Amino acid sequence: MTLDLVSDPPTRAPGQPTATGAEQTPLSPRTLRGIVRELAEQPDRWIHLVRLSTEERWYQRLVADDDHEVWLISWLPGQSTGFHDHGGSRGAFTVALGELEELSLGGPDQGLLIRRVPAGTARAFGPEYVHDVRNTASGPAVTLHAYSPPLSSMAHYDLRAGGLVRTSEEGPEQW
Ligand SMILES: [Fe+2]
Repeated sequence: MTLDLVSDPPTRAPGQPTATGAEQTPLSPRTLRGIVRELAEQPDRWIHLVRLSTEERWYQRLVADDDHEVWLISWLPGQSTGFHDHGGSRGAFTVALGELEELSLGGPDQGLLIRRVPAGTARAFGPEYVHDVRNTASGPAVTLHAYSPPLSSMAHYDLRAGGLVRTSEEGPEQW
């Protein structure tokens, strides 16, 4: 995998044909997990880019290919995503430095699942997945995330007594 640094969002929406007319098949969560793990093991390719922001999680896209994208994100203690989906994209992330906590809803009898995601571990998920990722540790964390197709939208949810309630949606123009 080559690491192409980009600053402009892709001009082609996910799922649309490429310039050659070929439809891209999304990469599997397993493949995406391999991508973020491989990159995490090569910190010389991204460590110099990391910034920390007290305003919100800091992020930068590292790869923008037709079939997937990779993001570098930093998290100060207390910073979190809130519950969100990935607009139908498959995804994976790994913690390169620090430790995060991931919340998700299990099956009907499982309720809220809380997982520690320490450095060196990775999570991968399918297109319907909804989670809340947060830094509850005392120090900063750095993570690598891959999505396929590239993110086209993200919906946010509130966790209420009856379950998750969709509250808003954002698109690439907001990130
Ligand atoms: Fe996510």
